[in-house]
Amino acid sequence: MNTLLPGATIGVLGSGQLGRMFAMAARRMGYLVHTFSPETDTPTGQVADVEVTASYDDLAAVRDFASRVEVVTFEFENVPSATVEAIAGIVPVRPAGAALYTTQHRLREKSFLERAGIPVTPFRHVRTLLELNDALNTIGCPAVLKTAGFGYDGKGQRLIKTLAESADAFQTLDGQEAVLEAFVDFEREVSVVCARGADGQVAHYGVVENAHERHILDCTIAPARVSGEVAREAVELATSLLEQLSLVGVLCVEFFLARDGKLFVNELAPRPHNSGHFTIDACATSQFEQQVRAVCGLSLGATEQLRPAAMANLLGDLWQDGEPDWRAACAFPNVKLHIYGKHEARAGRKMGHLTALAASTDEALCLVRAARAALIRRG
Ligand SMILES: Nc1ncnc2c1ncn2[C@@H]1O[C@H](COP(=O)(O)OP(=O)(O)O)[C@@H](O)[C@H]1O
Ligand SMILES: [Mg+2]
Repeated sequence: MNTLLPGATIGVLGSGQLGRMFAMAARRMGYLVHTFSPETDTPTGQVADVEVTASYDDLAAVRDFASRVEVVTFEFENVPSATVEAIAGIVPVRPAGAALYTTQHRLREKSFLERAGIPVTPFRHVRTLLELNDALNTIGCPAVLKTAGFGYDGKGQRLIKTLAESADAFQTLDGQEAVLEAFVDFEREVSVVCARGADGQVAHYGVVENAHERHILDCTIAPARVSGEVAREAVELATSLLEQLSLVGVLCVEFFLARDGKLFVNELAPRPHNSGHFTIDACATSQFEQQVRAVCGLSLGATEQLRPAAMANLLGDLWQDGEPDWRAACAFPNVKLHIYGKHEARAGRKMGHLTALAASTDEALCLVRAARAALIRRG
């Protein structure tokens, strides 16, 4: 594939906030962006040149979309293989469909990681209640039951504390295949956002630290408060995965850091990631510009972090008592506001985020939390 220069058109499958921030980076650089998803007036569509609304299974619409762009990438992983194959017959898909196929299904992803010699938490494939009981007997309790496909923000997950809960937990799967994995009593969660260019060049943003609430990312602190040794190992594992997946684009690797200092890979995302949002305000090149560069075959940009940062997600819950107090959050001069343009503020839905920059990560975390608290109107 030739290098795509500004003026070229990039297609994005999916239309959420990741596509929106990608489109903003792409358009700043002079590219045109078309987005494809089953919805209208979407976070990506609002800032794209063209918004196509059709089902991922509508292959005629998919082919028509592909014929109007020069490369296709995705911001949403649960795209059917047939859709990606139909596109790949017309224009290049970056990252390629094989990486998407591996990472969109927990069992395929974990089996790949195990084969690659990457440390993962013990897991078993679960299709029947008998298999679930067997798995609980070998793995032990507590354990986490996760649907193999279509999971995000903790959806499709259930913590099983005792064997007695197994039948009830199995019911909630509603016939979907699943993975049972050991519950990890981690010290903290960390992630590495990295990227690989079409020429094999690799770049990374170091290790960041993630705090989750109700299985949803709450805050990211960059850089992570971990030893140099842990940081080196995490980056090494992440960049080796870029090579093993022959990925062209951005990859995020999520880890559990155990209390004895051991790292386990939790999951992979073959795209920009929520834990990399801080890069927009804190790094020389954002993860979204990096994705544009990789997908278009340009050289990767510098990943240097300019200041310590902390990011806090804004969930729909913040709208419980009406519109948040934006003026109060914007009164913090070192806090940046990002809003995704979603019309309905449901509980647990990612509506936007804040990034704070400061002299230290602890200070940035205090600042971002204070700015978020200021959004809630009192009295
Ligand atoms: N095996 C586990 N042990 C402990 N906590 C877990 C485990 N699996 C998931 N979690 C918690 O739930 C969060 C979301 O789970 P994850 O597997 O990353 O799914 P997704 O992000 O796709 O919803 C994790 O970041 C972690 O906080
Ligand atoms: Mg996750």
